[in-house]
Amino acid sequence: MKLILDTANLNDIKYFNEFFPIVGVTTNPTILSKEGGDIVAHLKEIRKIIGDDKELHIQVTETKCDEMVAEAEAIVACFGNKKNTFVKIPATDEGIKATGYLSAKGYKVTMTAILSASQAMIAANAGAAYVAPYVSRLENICDDGVAIVAEIQAIFDACGTETEILAASFKTVRQVLGVALTGAGASTVGSEVMHKLLAHPTTDTSIDGFAADWKRAFGDVTLGELIANAGK
Ligand code: G3P
Repeated sequence: MKLILDTANLNDIKYFNEFFPIVGVTTNPTILSKEGGDIVAHLKEIRKIIGDDKELHIQVTETKCDEMVAEAEAIVACFGNKKNTFVKIPATDEGIKATGYLSAKGYKVTMTAILSASQAMIAANAGAAYVAPYVSRLENICDDGVAIVAEIQAIFDACGTETEILAASFKTVRQVLGVALTGAGASTVGSEVMHKLLAHPTTDTSIDGFAADWKRAFGDVTLGELIANAGK
């Protein structure tokens, strides 16, 4: 399952872009509101950090079809191209119409604010590249977010659609793993959960043990230095 970083924080994007195998960055108006300032320059900086090969997902702020389409075209022209810049459009009637139009013109749409499998099915039929179901927001209203992702994936498999799931709104590592087990194509994860996907205290103590045992046996020299000296 592809992993995408769900933040607009430049330090976090620099960090995970360098160290983690993320395929892109997702934003939404709430995420951008946390950064403030010149948000156009900020989004351009995100594109500069991740380069032209990674995905950048940016949400429209318009709510009517024609305006969403015009804004989507402006977003793609400003922050990348039709291949690497995904326009996030909420799952409304106007959004579905805009998605059909944009998809037919070769734009990649991430249909967002998906809370049900039926919304995902309609988004796929309209030509969305991704649908973004909100796992935690479903679980916060006593629904089963991972089960709904599984339902969407089963429908996509049955229909043979090219639309992929980009699951979003995660609060726990277990939710991410649950989504991965459904066969979903991608998940977008915030910085805190992204760190937790890799960090493990027993990994740390194991590494400390390796270092201590090596030092006890061989001192401060590294294996690389021993190899280099062996040839002399
Ligand atoms: O973009 C959608 C996703 O990031 C929402 O996450 O944590 O605000 O529910 P959250």
